[in-house]
Amino acid sequence: MSEETKNAPVLETTDEAEEERQKLAAIAEVIDTYKDQPGSLIKVLHAAQNIYGYLPLSLQKVIATGMNMPLSTISGVISFYAFFSTTPKADNTIKVCLGTACYVRGGQKIMDRLQNILGIKPGELTEDRKFSIEVTRCLGACGLAPVIMVNDDVHQQVNPDKLEKLLAAY
Ligand code: FES
Repeated sequence: MSEETKNAPVLETTDEAEEERQKLAAIAEVIDTYKDQPGSLIKVLHAAQNIYGYLPLSLQKVIATGMNMPLSTISGVISFYAFFSTTPKADNTIKVCLGTACYVRGGQKIMDRLQNILGIKPGELTEDRKFSIEVTRCLGACGLAPVIMVNDDVHQQVNPDKLEKLLAAY
């Protein structure tokens, strides 16, 4: 087995391999469109992140080659802007408020229960990439604590016993 084959990502199914191929082809097209336009790197990175979901090192190398730029330039721009991510994002981000009002009214219990249900800690995402958990401080709805947000939805007076049902809607 060649070094390259050994290092290639293991794709579970041919569907996944096909999906990956299509994403890379779409990114190659974007690079082709912009490679000769000065100052277009951010546009390319945005498009690549929209297509791929995030910007892993392997993709940064593809972009560096395609744009004829050093990898360090690509990585530097990605780390400078907060909206670029080098790690995969979950389909649904759960923000658990642990501000004072929410904490006092059981925010930590909600956090514990969520970790239990999903089997992940804050900052992690589930294996199927469906959910990730983040801690946040005050979502501005203290009167109705404890509060969590799932994507853009604010859930108030959350009951830990009803979390599974709440998550099933996503
Ligand atoms: S402390 Fe949680 S909403 Fe204000």
